[in-house]
Amino acid sequence: MAPAKILEHYQNMQSLNFKGRDVLRIDEFNKQELVYLLNSAIQLKQMQKSGLIFEPLKGKTLGMIFDKASTRTRVSFEVGMYQLGGMAMFMSGKELQLGRGEPISDTAKVLSRYLDAIMIRTFSHSYVEELAEHASIPIINGLTDRFHPCQALADMQTILEHKGTLEGVKLAYIGDGNNVATSLVLAAITLGVDVRLGTPVGYEMEQEVVDKAKQLAELSGATLLITNDPQAAVKDADVIYTDVWTSMGFEAENEVRLQAFADYQVNEELISLADPEYLFMHCLPAHRGEEVTAGVIDGEHSVIIDQAENRLHAQKAILAAVV
Ligand code: CP
Ligand code: NVA
Repeated sequence: MAPAKILEHYQNMQSLNFKGRDVLRIDEFNKQELVYLLNSAIQLKQMQKSGLIFEPLKGKTLGMIFDKASTRTRVSFEVGMYQLGGMAMFMSGKELQLGRGEPISDTAKVLSRYLDAIMIRTFSHSYVEELAEHASIPIINGLTDRFHPCQALADMQTILEHKGTLEGVKLAYIGDGNNVATSLVLAAITLGVDVRLGTPVGYEMEQEVVDKAKQLAELSGATLLITNDPQAAVKDADVIYTDVWTSMGFEAENEVRLQAFADYQVNEELISLADPEYLFMHCLPAHRGEEVTAGVIDGEHSVIIDQAENRLHAQKAILAAVV
């Protein structure tokens, strides 16, 4: 895209009122805003690939607090800030005074005087809400026990790029009704993707998110099927998505979960029910032989590496919009 076009795009953005906003849940953004962010992500990707320098965040600093492990989130945010002309600073939660009991409210106020935004990956979602309440700078959720909004935006970008559209695409999510699932479902339904959710009994998606997804479906016209039958969820699906059976923080439940999820593996038999042109997606990291077979995740329908790459572009779109 020519520089004049890029400027026009970013001027239009101002009218959408992104500046200063937190990104705690993907459903804080309406369809128009999500479409805007997706277009930005796709344009920023093209610009980066054609070597165009675009540095709207020159002189800005993103603080990144991690209470859990990360490969993609950490590296893509750090690289993304650099490419936008700013810098990112890694902070381990337990090495901050927070880890020794300093109140989150004091931490939020102090960090707001040094930084221009904070990305945080932690356990409790309410902890991130508290950080956002006391901070005067945007707080971006890099994964909590309930939500993973940045992942969901990158997922929508990946489906759009591979399928050429989102409206009417049939997306099956199989497995744990976890943080990745909640955000995926909320983003997909907002954007008109038909969602089928196949989760085991006892591992369904939380009711508040189901209720919100139903409300959003009325607005977008998307359909939502919630079932405990993985075959019913996958039938004729254009996209099959799964995630780990044991998320970070749930390790003590691993043995019980392996049994509960045994019939929910995305394998050759299950995918035979999908549309022949199906895409396989996974937020990664994956456990081959558990939630997905090696044949499926490493097969020709898998777009997991494009999906991981899009974390960079989608997050650059978010950063350029809110910081
Ligand atoms: N998908 C994802 O968030 O990956 P990381 O845990 O490596 O950041
Ligand atoms: N559901 C997984 C996603 C990791 C990116 C977890 O929370 O561990």
